[in-house]
Amino acid sequence: MLYQVYPRSFADSDGDGVGDLRGITGRLDHLVDLGVDAVWLSPFYASPMVDFGYDITDHCAVDPVFGTLADVDALVAAAHARGLRVLVDVVPNHTSDRHPWFAESRSSRDSGRRDWYVWADPGPGGGPPNNWLSAFAASGPAWTLDGRTGQYYLHSYTAAQPDLNWQNAAVREAVHDVLRFWLERGVDGFRVDAAHRLVKDPTLADNPADVAHLRTALVPGGTRLRHIDQPGVHEVLREVRAVVGPDTLLLGEIGVADPTRWAAYYGSGDELVPLNPTFWSRPCTTDALRSAVDTTEAVLPPGGWPVYALGNHDLSRLATRCGSARARLAAVLLLTLRGTPLVYYGDELGMTDVPVPPEAARDPDGRDPARTPMQWDASPGAGFTTGRPWLPIPPTAGTVNVAAERADPGSLLNLYRALIRLRRRSPALRTGDYRPLPPTDPGLYAYWRQAGDQRILVALNATGRSRTVAPPGTSTGRLLLSTDPDRPLGECPDPLVLAADEAVVVESDR
Ligand code: GLC
Repeated sequence: MLYQVYPRSFADSDGDGVGDLRGITGRLDHLVDLGVDAVWLSPFYASPMVDFGYDITDHCAVDPVFGTLADVDALVAAAHARGLRVLVDVVPNHTSDRHPWFAESRSSRDSGRRDWYVWADPGPGGGPPNNWLSAFAASGPAWTLDGRTGQYYLHSYTAAQPDLNWQNAAVREAVHDVLRFWLERGVDGFRVDAAHRLVKDPTLADNPADVAHLRTALVPGGTRLRHIDQPGVHEVLREVRAVVGPDTLLLGEIGVADPTRWAAYYGSGDELVPLNPTFWSRPCTTDALRSAVDTTEAVLPPGGWPVYALGNHDLSRLATRCGSARARLAAVLLLTLRGTPLVYYGDELGMTDVPVPPEAARDPDGRDPARTPMQWDASPGAGFTTGRPWLPIPPTAGTVNVAAERADPGSLLNLYRALIRLRRRSPALRTGDYRPLPPTDPGLYAYWRQAGDQRILVALNATGRSRTVAPPGTSTGRLLLSTDPDRPLGECPDPLVLAADEAVVVESDR
């Protein structure tokens, strides 16, 4: 099981209101207690923080707000000592506009690094070269004119994040060196940011209008023009794989809506493991959840192993999108599917989007509400900071926090802990097949997981009324877990009827 930490928001060791590496190291025992195998750290590199670390000025330096390289080493050592692996974010698609590479590139058309970024002449009439838009709703066109040299540069995100030109071999080599640098420091893998964008259409043709943006959840009306991922991207990702070797975990952010094109990023096991975006734009209903999983299973290449996430730092919080009852059900789904679960920090507590008043807004794409400080306890700084937190801590932190939920047997945190323990000791849940039951009742989503002679049935009722899983006389086995903390476990009830929004895990004896 994987866990994503957003370093600004996990734990602040020095009271400046911003989370840091030492803070994370001090809280690793929470991850151990939860049952995490590997932690993914969002960027902590030197950055002007226009996009909070996804705009980098030095990929091999730590921003002082987060600490030092020695703090990274200490974190990695402390994690390894606890049996936790560490993945770091790598941002290969773009740099900060204040990166020395870009400063050189923009200095003149003849600069030795001109071709390290994507430059183009103005389009007919003097405007941007084509209709490409930034992925951020507020950022407008993906092109900004550089007055000095009279050309536009491409930026898939804010204008402060110029896209690198991966067609240039020196760029590829420079980013490979960044990967080597972190591997030598002992990290176990990478989450590759915006991996599907590395290669651009060389003809710079206009993009077609798209039906939906993957991240519409936090971007109302966020219909964008789609980036068309290019066939050449697979070759550059194979090169990346060759640099890191077969055993390094490479998780790719692949923001490609078409499932077949998305699955192509597995390559033949020689590219990366694409993070699964199918849940991100769907409601938490039985039908939507089932179709997300079945679509994924249908397109996976042979041997392809899914990594499912229900939340991340770009999306509205799971408990806000689904509501608190269905967040419990979603936890059962995530932890019982065939595939590695990835949990976004705080989702194990049921943290919700925190309203951020306009004057306190920090993010260029409206994502602050899902990035607020981790809620450790009921103290004023929520155990996150002794200072003034960089984003607000909601009043609900008084009860939605690690300490309170640890002490409450019916809490979401204890449901996560129970699910992760169950998964760890069940071969069927860890590695077994996935076989969905035919959807005879559209309100019910049920599937078998089987390995050897262990057979586990998972049934989810993401609807507002009760549903029968097994009619009288057909239900046998042991009820291992329910989202309802008051339901007695042990012998399976006969008939097996799920309450509204309930999910159960049953071990079958036949
Ligand atoms: C990815 C990250 C997002 C960031 C963007 C630009 O989508 O997840 O947070 O803003 O890339 O790096």
